[in-house]
Amino acid sequence: MFDVVLFQPEIPPNTGNIIRLCANTGSRLHLIRPLGFDIGEKAVRRAGMDYAELASVRVWNGLEECLRALHPARWFAVSTRGTRRYDEVRFQPNDVFVFGPETRGLPEAVLAACEPSRRLRIPMLAGNRSLNLSNAAAVLVYEAWRQNEFAGS
Ligand SMILES: C[S@@+](CC[C@H](N)C(=O)[O-])C[C@H]1O[C@@H](n2cnc3c(N)ncnc32)[C@H](O)[C@@H]1O
Repeated sequence: MFDVVLFQPEIPPNTGNIIRLCANTGSRLHLIRPLGFDIGEKAVRRAGMDYAELASVRVWNGLEECLRALHPARWFAVSTRGTRRYDEVRFQPNDVFVFGPETRGLPEAVLAACEPSRRLRIPMLAGNRSLNLSNAAAVLVYEAWRQNEFAGS
């Protein structure tokens, strides 16, 4: 239903959790190199499901290459520096969500390439830095899927 893109993910269990999230919600997962781990690593597999799930994950050399291939009607950058609250958007099938790496977040260039109304943030209490990557992905994907009546469930 949706495409989840992890830009240069660094921590294997987060990607493993997101593999499982995508499997459970019918989302496609795309990883943008360089990765901070080997995709076959035990830590990824433990949190994810099995080799069959890993087989449906696509790895790309760059974000541009990935977006060119997906050619979505629109894509969203999900960032603590987002300019729009995620729950204000009416999500549609085939929406693409791009998440940043754990220690750095999305680079300015990626945010700049995304129009301001599609730079999404998840509210947090003042003074907090960020959510865990896999938690942020779960919040976004489940809200988008909820809005689409949990299609296919
Ligand atoms: C651990 S966070 C990165 C923290 C980084 N220092 C930053 O400020 O962007 C990893 C990713 O999770 C997502 N994320 C975490 N908390 C978020 C929030 N409150 N709003 C939107 N995205 C969030 C973003 O995609 C972020 O790049």
